[in-house]
Amino acid sequence: MALLQLTDVEKTFGSGDRRTVAANRVTMAVGEGEIVGLVGESGSGKSTIANLVLGLQKPDSGTVSFAGRDVQDWLRRDQRGLRRQVQAVFQQPLLALDSRRVIGWSVAEPLVIHRIGDVDTRRARVLELLDHVGLSPEIAERLPHQLSGGQLQRVNIARALALEPRLLVCDEAVSALDVSVQAQVLNLLLELQERLGIAMLFISHDIAVVRHISDSMVVMYRGDIVERGDTDQVCGNPRSEHARVLIEASS
Ligand SMILES: Nc1ncnc2c1ncn2[C@@H]1O[C@H](COP(=O)(O)OP(=O)(O)O)[C@@H](O)[C@H]1O
Ligand SMILES: [Mg+2]
Repeated sequence: MALLQLTDVEKTFGSGDRRTVAANRVTMAVGEGEIVGLVGESGSGKSTIANLVLGLQKPDSGTVSFAGRDVQDWLRRDQRGLRRQVQAVFQQPLLALDSRRVIGWSVAEPLVIHRIGDVDTRRARVLELLDHVGLSPEIAERLPHQLSGGQLQRVNIARALALEPRLLVCDEAVSALDVSVQAQVLNLLLELQERLGIAMLFISHDIAVVRHISDSMVVMYRGDIVERGDTDQVCGNPRSEHARVLIEASS
């Protein structure tokens, strides 16, 4: 059984002339400790998949299950239990952080919400998490606007790791960063995957970014999966026109 399994997932928005099929019977899986890339041009349905996995949206039909449990059902019964296991990092690093709070507070917040540890153990854990993502302890005292985009995204990763999730959903997590910083953050994610065995659904419109990090990839186009396979195989010998277009666009 895969850690994350989507089976025949369908999601449409609007109706009549405005009907958009954002996910058309999507079936895909992410195994324990595996990094699966999800790539496609803008509007192909990638964020819809992320939202369905996180339970932020409900499928019209089909199922999304995590560790063998239906995500919607799990959310209804035990939202915190699911949140401990599935965390996300999004494109805009500032959005998830409270601009008036120091970084240490934001990294500790998930621990506070989930009532893990006391003030002292949480403080120690925040420093450990900052260290995991390559940030020095002084960062804990800074405010978000004092940090660079790359540092902020490292903070978001630290925050996402605080609860020791089994799956990290990264939706365009490096897309707002400069190319050189992108590579650093991707390498950090790879290192974390190796060290912590955390699985990732890594989403980007840029196939070069997905290629850098993922073991296997899924290519979407207008709600459909048009290609899937081993990363090297898809990038080296794409079978679909859509994968070829993405490769040309990114190189
Ligand atoms: N809440 C929504 N209401 C209406 N249409 C939406 C909504 N969310 C997404 N869509 C549409 O669904 C399609 C897929 O969007 P999205 O999943 O955001 O794609 P991607 O992340 O690949 O850019 C797009 O055509 C988008 O306009
Ligand atoms: Mg998106």
